[in-house]
Amino acid sequence: MVRPLTSVKMLIEISTEDVMKISTQSKTTKNKDQDNLYSQPREAISGFVFDESVVKVFEDMIGRSVPGYATLLSMFPVLTHSFIQPDSHCYDLGCSLGASTLAIQQGIKVEGVEIIALDNSLAMIEKCKALTSEHRSQAKVTVRLADICESEITNASLVVMNFTMQFVQKEAREPLINNIYSGLNTGGAFLLSEKIKCSNSMEQDRLTTLHHDFKKANGYTDLEISQKRSALENVLITETVEQHVCRLKEAGFSEVLVWFQCFNFVSFLAIK
Ligand SMILES: C[S@@+](CC[C@H](N)C(=O)[O-])C[C@H]1O[C@@H](n2cnc3c(N)ncnc32)[C@H](O)[C@@H]1O
Repeated sequence: MVRPLTSVKMLIEISTEDVMKISTQSKTTKNKDQDNLYSQPREAISGFVFDESVVKVFEDMIGRSVPGYATLLSMFPVLTHSFIQPDSHCYDLGCSLGASTLAIQQGIKVEGVEIIALDNSLAMIEKCKALTSEHRSQAKVTVRLADICESEITNASLVVMNFTMQFVQKEAREPLINNIYSGLNTGGAFLLSEKIKCSNSMEQDRLTTLHHDFKKANGYTDLEISQKRSALENVLITETVEQHVCRLKEAGFSEVLVWFQCFNFVSFLAIK
């Protein structure tokens, strides 16, 4: 029997070869946790929400929808460990099931670190608590139901937002980044991963086609792709790389760079 991608831990421990295997498996796996939320025609498509039905299939959904997701997470321990200071906080903003929390945790080499994982979906938080409690590490992990736009960031050496800013109201993004910047200690890092758009329409069309090809290669049908796209239409709001870089620099980050890109999915590293 083909085994599906069943745990967050697996996601962060897999190699690129494994990712390819998983992509192939996902096409054929028939399992209760497989994402088929948009497989049947719907009369009306309502806006996407991170409710219980999404939480149930989230691991499968994100792995088959976000190109490079597993590779990106597998780099987190390497990328983040040198920024994490003793007796400081690491934040995982929009933690979902805690995949980023678990990845950061693996890289922590110093004492007195607390990872604070926040999400405003109760269903996500409940499952995240269960999954993260299965793992022991040097760092304490606190998982909390909270709106990241109204949360305090203090004594932070690392803040991660992995594909969450895109769901935050556009006007709330600048204050949120300013809050992150002021809560970070000098030398601390902000890791921001986002789906992006291009100002050049040919590039935008090319990247969209590649993204849809990726989803089709992972077993999604044209109907699933188009219905999910409609559901995300006014919910997932993308910006260009330039807009992100500009906002990060304006907040005061001294170094801002793109360290990862797979099609229209980009990750930035910003250092205070
Ligand atoms: C695409 S998922 C993030 C994936 C996750 N970071 C990972 O690495 O697997 C986006 C998450 O952000 C959460 N979210 C969106 N807006 C939020 C807000 N204002 N406050 C807290 N969480 C939020 C959603 O509930 C959802 O779980």
